[in-house]
Amino acid sequence: MLKILVTGGNGQLANCIKEVSSQHLDTLTFIYKSSKELDITDKVAVFKEFEGGGYHFCVNTAAYTNVDGAENDQGKADLVNRVGPKNIAEACKKNDVVLVHISTDFVFDGGQSTPNTEQAVTNPLGVYGSSKLKGEQAVVSKCKKYFVIRTSWLYSEYGSNFMKSMLKYGRERESLSVVYDQIGTPTYAKDLAEVILLFVLNRIDDYGIYHYSNEGVASWYDFAKAIFDINDVVVQLLPIRTEAYPLPAKRPSFSVLDKSKIKNVLQIEIPYWRDSLKRACDDLGHPYQEQ
Ligand SMILES: NC(=O)c1ccc[n+]([C@@H]2O[C@H](COP(=O)([O-])OP(=O)(O)OC[C@H]3O[C@@H](n4cnc5c(N)ncnc54)[C@H](OP(=O)(O)O)[C@@H]3O)[C@@H](O)[C@H]2O)c1
Repeated sequence: MLKILVTGGNGQLANCIKEVSSQHLDTLTFIYKSSKELDITDKVAVFKEFEGGGYHFCVNTAAYTNVDGAENDQGKADLVNRVGPKNIAEACKKNDVVLVHISTDFVFDGGQSTPNTEQAVTNPLGVYGSSKLKGEQAVVSKCKKYFVIRTSWLYSEYGSNFMKSMLKYGRERESLSVVYDQIGTPTYAKDLAEVILLFVLNRIDDYGIYHYSNEGVASWYDFAKAIFDINDVVVQLLPIRTEAYPLPAKRPSFSVLDKSKIKNVLQIEIPYWRDSLKRACDDLGHPYQEQ
């Protein structure tokens, strides 16, 4: 039996792991810790959790994920996204636990026009991306048995995300403006959860940094359009440029991830983003009602 600690246990990705792992509970035991139960910025608490925990893996989904909020909350972003992963990596090293740490496409500046490999030069544009990059670096420097998985544009039926916001606003408003000049790939968080399980179940030991998103590329406008089409939401959708909708944090204009490495190591095919979106909308239920 493998024992796995999941931090950030109330978050979107943690909930997806909970759901997709339900068929493996004969071989895997998961312990989910919410931010209240285990604050990853508290080094003493983290070490205590690992000491007697008997864990084989830790999946660190905990993060400060408010990209715009981070611009005015640098201290908190640094604490959760850099110091937290550092604490966890040190505890993993001390207790011989394999760490799966989740990072982001926002470590890149988006200044290129081809997909970023794991070796591409990082250059975050904002506080969130910068704090996440420092978190990755802490993991890489503090422990040897790690998988850092960079992902992009996560959505699911859990938590707050673009898909759920669009469904809410699409039904409330007559028209919506969405940027069409930021290109990336939406990722169904349950697909990412399945991939995290593969690292565990297959006892992969090619440690290092990996990229994972769904296949294909889209703008936020394309993503919104697909959400409305699949859910039969009638709303006027207006494509706008980024400068027409200024936000505190600068975002990469092109943040597509090259996924060759993860496909090769795990021997997987990755679902196309529109196919995953259809599954997500089915999982959410038609018509979706905000709780
Ligand atoms: N969402 C995206 O679009 C996206 C894109 C790329 C990468 N990622 C990365 O993917 C990972 C999972 O994201 P997600 O969408 O699941 O985020 P999420 O729903 O915001 O979940 C993050 C969780 O971390 C918890 N947390 C915050 N501070 C903590 C602390 N000090 N100690 C312990 N837990 C703490 C939060 O708890 P509270 O709610 O109690 O604060 C929350 O439950 C993160 O590493 C994120 O950076 C996300």
